[in-house]
Amino acid sequence: MPEPLLEVRGLKVAFGGGRDALLRRKPAFEAVRGIDFSIAKGEAFALVGESGAGKSTAARCVVGLQRPTDGTITFVGAPLGPRRDPAQRRAIQMVFQDPFGSLSPRMAVGAAICELLRVNGLAEDKAAARRQATELFALVGLPESALDQRPRAFSGGQRQRIGIARALAVEPTLLVADEPVSALDVSIQASVLILLKRLQRELGLSMLFISHDLAVVKQLCDRVAVMNEGEIVEEGSVQEVFSRPRHEFTRRLLAATTDLPRLEISRARLVQAEAAVGR
Ligand SMILES: Nc1ncnc2c1ncn2[C@@H]1O[C@H](COP(=O)(O)OP(=O)(O)O)[C@@H](O)[C@H]1O
Ligand SMILES: [Mg+2]
Repeated sequence: MPEPLLEVRGLKVAFGGGRDALLRRKPAFEAVRGIDFSIAKGEAFALVGESGAGKSTAARCVVGLQRPTDGTITFVGAPLGPRRDPAQRRAIQMVFQDPFGSLSPRMAVGAAICELLRVNGLAEDKAAARRQATELFALVGLPESALDQRPRAFSGGQRQRIGIARALAVEPTLLVADEPVSALDVSIQASVLILLKRLQRELGLSMLFISHDLAVVKQLCDRVAVMNEGEIVEEGSVQEVFSRPRHEFTRRLLAATTDLPRLEISRARLVQAEAAVGR
């Protein structure tokens, strides 16, 4: 296996704890209980599990939005602490379930991306920023005219494309996508997934993909780790885990989400969506 891009060791996150008004120790809740995983360059790695398993908490640690209670996160050989330098912050970008939260409602979406490019020293002047923003929008399948609209003007699927363009603007190495299509209509989920997969391949991005839907993971990812109650219970290639699940919990998850007809339908939909996107 090539040297990992991201290496997570013994990651723990506890919430609560501390002392109450009478200085009695309150019990802490461990959302993440010492997990290990690594992601190679160019690899799409999935973290799956039911709601509340600790997936988002783990993802937020990787992006630097959540401080771990214990454990280490190493990125291209260097430890990632709570304070990251600008290059480290740029290198790991997040695509959220609800991209609305990361878009300013009062600003045209293009202006926001241009600002991001300028602040990060990626565009020399306004014209260059506009050119790059136009290219980014083309990359995610949006016309240049979309740059001048505010977030409210867009559908959920378009907003998620904008969220992806925003994440890509700073040229990340690792994209962390936390349930990026769960809030979208089923009919447009596939087109956004196709887009993510295409970008991941074409840009050589590594991806930490979080989902509760194993059917989606099967189409998109190389390796998968299954989380349950804060722990990784099983890990392997998507091929292995899907054909020979070892853990009872994984079998249950598979039985719940990947009956054959649904998979066939979703595959047909993927092909359809791919044609619509023009790839
Ligand atoms: N900021 C927080 N404070 C307290 N508990 C939290 C916080 N964030 C998440 N949790 C709890 O941690 C557990 C794991 O949450 P989360 O990581 O969001 O799971 P998942 O993304 O797998 O659904 C849940 O029980 C959740 O209620
Ligand atoms: Mg979550």
